[in-house]
Amino acid sequence: MLDLKRQYQPLQRELLEALQHVLETQQFILGEQVASFERAAAGHLGVKHAVGCSSGTDALWLALAAAGIGTGDAVITTPFSFFASVSAILRAGASPILADIDPVTFNLAPKAVEAVLKSPPNVPVRAVLPVHLYGQCADWSSFSRLSKKYGLKLIEDAAQAWGAEWDGKKAGGLGDAGAFSFYPTKNLSAAGDAGMVTTNSDDLDEMARTLRQHGMRRRYYHDEVGWNTRLDGFQGAVLQVKLKYIARWNQCRRTIAKRYRALFHAKGIAESGSFPRHGIVLPQEVPGAHHVWHQYVIRSPRRDALREFLTSRKIGSEIYYPVPLHMQTALKSLGYREGDFPEAERAAREVLALPIFPELREDEQKTVVDAIAEFLS
Ligand SMILES: Cc1ncc(COP(=O)(O)O)c(C=O)c1O
Repeated sequence: MLDLKRQYQPLQRELLEALQHVLETQQFILGEQVASFERAAAGHLGVKHAVGCSSGTDALWLALAAAGIGTGDAVITTPFSFFASVSAILRAGASPILADIDPVTFNLAPKAVEAVLKSPPNVPVRAVLPVHLYGQCADWSSFSRLSKKYGLKLIEDAAQAWGAEWDGKKAGGLGDAGAFSFYPTKNLSAAGDAGMVTTNSDDLDEMARTLRQHGMRRRYYHDEVGWNTRLDGFQGAVLQVKLKYIARWNQCRRTIAKRYRALFHAKGIAESGSFPRHGIVLPQEVPGAHHVWHQYVIRSPRRDALREFLTSRKIGSEIYYPVPLHMQTALKSLGYREGDFPEAERAAREVLALPIFPELREDEQKTVVDAIAEFLS
């Protein structure tokens, strides 16, 4: 599914030198390496501020808290994402409200969000938290319109979307704040847990920096109840090295996605439309989006059997995500039931992520496509 060693080998010397520099300076927490990575990252994304922190989960919490969202506020998000998209809202003290997804992009559907906004719940909705799932931005033109119409903050879950764009603008700079994850499998990845908040707001930046260090503006004087969610020097050093290559790696992912499309079409097994009938439906890059293909996710009505077949051929695949968030045991208290979000539920039954990473070879892609064609025949 993913061979991280192929990324590591050509970078080995550069990475070891960067790590050695951290050891020599002994700046293990925040410090010079993190500050220079933050500046480079902000420049790369075209945003004013980037604040490193200890994970994507913490970045989501930090973005919400720094935007002033907490107890007594509701935040609308998607039921089809990683658990942290919802748990971070709870962690900030706010109430998550879910709305269904668009079946083509798997992203939060603006129409479904507006339906919620038109019949306001008991708790006032203060923000929307769309997730740029699989590396493709949520429909930001529509979310910007909704944000203006209803006076809402927009927080991006950009964990899977480093380098993705909407209308030529990079994820992380689209909303009031963006949250990135540098988990080792992400397009831009650390050598452990790491994350980042991005924003164009000076106030939000200042608050995020304060909250990531226990609400201290001055040492041992606590103005806010924050948390310890600092980025460490080793991760800053690794990320700064990898930042030089991420544009090229994302371009490789785009080439691989294009090749999958061509290979599947050549076999005649890709069906048109949003839902598969007998074959498979391929993922699409929609107008306005610049997809960075964190995942290449197909739909199949016989997904589980297909996955088993691929496994028997030693071909990796993964299901992101098998259980929609409204059906997770830990989120029962939100009060949703099976049937509440049919698109998310159908996606959870049909999606299958195929291998995609910058170093994936053409012959390996052919093996994947040939195996799927064999299964379908
Ligand atoms: C959509 C999404 N949100 C949030 C996160 C949380 O990031 P992390 O694992 O770095 O805490 C992830 C990553 O796993 C993710 O994919």
